[in-house]
Amino acid sequence: MKTPVLSVDGVHKYFGGLAAVVDLSFDVQAGEVIGLMGPNGAGKTTLLNVIAGEYKPDSGTIKFKGHDITGLPPHKMCHLGIARTYQIPQPFVKLTVLQNIVVAAIFGRGLSKSTAEHEAAKVLTIVGLSEKKDMHADDLEEISLKRLELARVLATKPTLLMIDELAAGLNETEIPQVLDLLKEINEMRITIILIEHVMKVMTKAVDRIIVMDEGMKIAEGKPTEVMKNKKVIGAYFG
Ligand SMILES: Nc1ncnc2c1ncn2[C@@H]1O[C@H](COP(=O)(O)OP(=O)(O)O)[C@@H](O)[C@H]1O
Ligand SMILES: [Mg+2]
Repeated sequence: MKTPVLSVDGVHKYFGGLAAVVDLSFDVQAGEVIGLMGPNGAGKTTLLNVIAGEYKPDSGTIKFKGHDITGLPPHKMCHLGIARTYQIPQPFVKLTVLQNIVVAAIFGRGLSKSTAEHEAAKVLTIVGLSEKKDMHADDLEEISLKRLELARVLATKPTLLMIDELAAGLNETEIPQVLDLLKEINEMRITIILIEHVMKVMTKAVDRIIVMDEGMKIAEGKPTEVMKNKKVIGAYFG
């Protein structure tokens, strides 16, 4: 078996007395697309924050390509190739689309300005924002904001990309567009962990689903298996 890109082992995260993530363990292999599901408050975003270094776990270890990275700060994680998007996109609203991507490349990966600009141009094409490159971020509609959010993380050249809710707020015609984009990103050999509520995205885009409830992993498997799991149905409808 190859060394996983990511190994999460026995991770706990508490907020005061509240256990947000409880004894969570899973591996992610290179090239996989993992879906992370669970009802609101299940601990999905907290888990992402722990992996991305925004929160230190109270116990447990996180390994990236076999190296212990537990508790490293976010900028170190980013330099290693671990990147994340936010549930609510966080661009610099007064900068243009292009400037936002350049800034992400410079600060996220420590690229020089000229390399960052070169990288930004490539990323603009990938996410389909070339024509909007000179618009200010606060003039973008929802789908373009999502594209920009992806562009900003892609500009940091991640190995592991964690996405917190891509399809939320998008309509029926926009969802296939983000599905295509996800596929394209994965074909760039980027491993993906995706938090998502939209079932169409889960069943079409992911190789394996991990379901959380009350901080714990309650199921893991192929989308079709997981959707039939009684514990999962209970967590959502029980
Ligand atoms: N910074 C924080 N401080 C205190 N409690 C938090 C914080 N972030 C999340 N929580 C709590 O942790 C639990 C898990 O939240 P979260 O990870 O956001 O869940 P999800 O993303 O699955 O909806 C919730 O009960 C939430 O209120
Ligand atoms: Mg969340």
